[in-house]
Amino acid sequence: MTSAPLRQEVEALRAQLNQHNYRYYVLDEPSIPDVEYDRLLRQLQTIEAQHPELISQDSPTQRVGAQPLTAFGEVTHDMRMLSLDNAFNDDEMRDFERRIKDRLKDTSELEFVCEPKLDGIAVSLLYENGIFVRGATRGDGQTGENITQNLRTVPSIPLTLMGTGWPERLEVRGEVYMPKAGFDAFNKQALANGEKPFVNPRNAAAGSLRQLDSKITASRPLQMCCYSVGIVDGGELPGKHSDVLQQLHRWGFRINDQMKVVQGINGCIDYYQDLQTRRDSLHYEIDGIVFKLNSLELQNKVGFVSRAPRWAIAYKFPAQEEITQLLGVEFQVGRTGAVTPVARLQPVFVGGVTVSNATLHNGDEIERLGVRCGDTVVVRRAGDVIPQVVQVVLEKRPENSTVIEFPSSCPVCGSDVIRAEGEAVARCTGGLYCAAQRKQAIKHFASRKAFDIEGLGDKLVDMLVDQQLINSIADLFHLQHEALSNLERMGDKSAQNLLDALQKSKQTTLARFIYALGIREVGEATAANLAHHFADLDALMQANEEQLLEVNDVGPIVASHIAHFFQQPHNQEIIEALLAEGIRWPSVDKKNVEAMPLAGQTWVLTGTLETLTRDQAKSRLVALGAKVSGSVSAKTHCVVAGASAGSKLTKAESLGIEVRDESALLQLLAQLEAS
Ligand code: IVH
Repeated sequence: MTSAPLRQEVEALRAQLNQHNYRYYVLDEPSIPDVEYDRLLRQLQTIEAQHPELISQDSPTQRVGAQPLTAFGEVTHDMRMLSLDNAFNDDEMRDFERRIKDRLKDTSELEFVCEPKLDGIAVSLLYENGIFVRGATRGDGQTGENITQNLRTVPSIPLTLMGTGWPERLEVRGEVYMPKAGFDAFNKQALANGEKPFVNPRNAAAGSLRQLDSKITASRPLQMCCYSVGIVDGGELPGKHSDVLQQLHRWGFRINDQMKVVQGINGCIDYYQDLQTRRDSLHYEIDGIVFKLNSLELQNKVGFVSRAPRWAIAYKFPAQEEITQLLGVEFQVGRTGAVTPVARLQPVFVGGVTVSNATLHNGDEIERLGVRCGDTVVVRRAGDVIPQVVQVVLEKRPENSTVIEFPSSCPVCGSDVIRAEGEAVARCTGGLYCAAQRKQAIKHFASRKAFDIEGLGDKLVDMLVDQQLINSIADLFHLQHEALSNLERMGDKSAQNLLDALQKSKQTTLARFIYALGIREVGEATAANLAHHFADLDALMQANEEQLLEVNDVGPIVASHIAHFFQQPHNQEIIEALLAEGIRWPSVDKKNVEAMPLAGQTWVLTGTLETLTRDQAKSRLVALGAKVSGSVSAKTHCVVAGASAGSKLTKAESLGIEVRDESALLQLLAQLEAS
């Protein structure tokens, strides 16, 4: 027999776990560290293991997944799950408003609720007496699949409702989706394991919910956000849609953080424009905005037409995926010799721009996609990410499609192309003999974060190398006015400006100099760390791998690239030649580095900053001695959180790490830079 105190203890543990779960997954405001949550969960698991009669379906221990199914059952939706009409421009939005006003025979201003249209899978969740009893997909709107077991594993779906006053039977509807960070991490892992990645976050959500083994679903980073109700029996809900959502939030559901009530169709259009500019900074993918009449009474009055309500509309954003034809593949050679296949496409409008090239990453990717020249392919351009070929439409493969051969010799210099063991990237072995690598090395040297040579653009570098006016970065400083001014589109004045810019660039910093050399895997931050650590170029050039490993952020791979670079005689010669040209930097005093105000501190930047770019914030922090890292850990000193900061902020808060907003950062920088 189970004793009453034990039952009470179980209830108390469940209530605590539900509360923490709500704070973590619904409010994004955890109040205890993860280890404490795990401890409570283990305590409950231990009791339940000893007293199986105490286990209930709504226990937080049941989120880990259940016995695999052989098939999903069917669920009939007592209330049809509708879909939405779409609008693609402002005129269609105005037509939508006019139709409602005509129907209501009333011209007064209407109130709308704006909600981002999440790109995931619609689900229905049924609660009886506050307990989650059944979850289903939308299916065809009438009949869906019973995916209760899978939905139980989604942490932002409450297994029991919080608070009081819920109807006896309540059907909550919403979208299950995979946030961008979880999607990227999942795909990265899948590729590393040699598994197939998901094409987009929507497919990832669908694929994860369609698992017969709910343990697989439990391992996927899914979220659920609710946007309406279906059946409501034995209870009342507020009379406005926005208030219904707020009520659902109090009962334990996640609602969209961007939801807003606006007046009239102009309010809707303003909201659409504002969110379109912020679309990329959201932590989830959206494909438009849903606008709904706020008054439920008016919703009832205007009613439905076939499968969609007349009181709601989805104003779609330009598509992020399109299909087009792969015309050919060009192999580009980068600064480090990496040979990258670039797809030449029939130009297509996607993600708001016309795309005619997309990356195919490497040979493995070509193989994985099984893509051939002539194929019809799906191209995706999300945010400011480089356009990618994500899928082949096999049904449309033409008879004359041709297999893509990865070159075994460099398309630019003819040297062997070799793929080192364990590496995905194939490289041209020509080094600086290869004009492509030379051009890239010079472009990198001239770039803004390196020598910042104004007027030395990519086209000019191509010309200078093609006409053999320069062969290495050091040659830049031997350029003559006459040769320059004779070049195409280079007058007297621009030639002189370039020579002045070259002269000016000779005064630099040690960090910029190191970065400009273009050593593999040595970015701006690592270059700054190397400069701080060694304070002297000779010391860096002489350092062995062991000594290099002592530098912040330098691991074994980077250390070996650095040591290898400085051992190469031709690199030593180029450095000597550069110094002979009079390149100088102010001396870096090692002691001063240690005395820098932020020395020894690790900072993390997250979210969107308004007045500074990430690069600017980073270089100002680094200049004060801080290390800037991409991930939050117990060693992080401070997190700077901009708009729409997501999981890093949550993690920082759960670890009790100091969090500053942008204005606090600016204040601190100004103060420290002045002293
Ligand atoms: S309301 C009667 N609100 O869009 C209204 N739908 O094209 C039914 N969706 O099947 C849906 N975010 O999967 C609504 N905030 C939102 C939504 C949303 C995404 C999806 C949903 C629906 C589809 C309709």
